[in-house]
Amino acid sequence: MTPAATPDAKVDWDELRAVAREAMSHAYAPYSGYPVGVAALVDDGRTVSGCNVENASYGLGLCAECGLVSELQRTGGGRLTHFTCVDGRGEILVPCGRCRQLLYEFGGAGLLLETPAGILPLAEMLPQAFGPDHLTK
Ligand code: THU
Repeated sequence: MTPAATPDAKVDWDELRAVAREAMSHAYAPYSGYPVGVAALVDDGRTVSGCNVENASYGLGLCAECGLVSELQRTGGGRLTHFTCVDGRGEILVPCGRCRQLLYEFGGAGLLLETPAGILPLAEMLPQAFGPDHLTK
């Protein structure tokens, strides 16, 4: 287990999941019928969240993580430390591949994700990630 994946007793995943479920209740998903909610802790103690917002032009739909990173930036930036995602039943859901990349930008390899397989660092969900460091080499 990497140091970043060490369970953090101070983090209440049930509470974070409750925030994700509340966000999911605001989803706009008339085309897929698949509402999603996400929530994350920020390194300064803030909590940010998001829901998916679809569009009649199907390909333009926004994943819930888009709303989350937008809120993160709008409310002061910072680094994501803990993240969870739920489906329309409130069950834990893995973020899609594109959204793992969104999360990598703002949380990096050590961001802890709640997944159906337990708490995992993003390094395990997006191995050998391309990221900001590559652009400075
Ligand atoms: N969706 C998300 O919002 N986040 C994910 O990580 C997985 C997929 C949304 C996109 C679309 O609105 C719906 O789920 C069905 O794919």
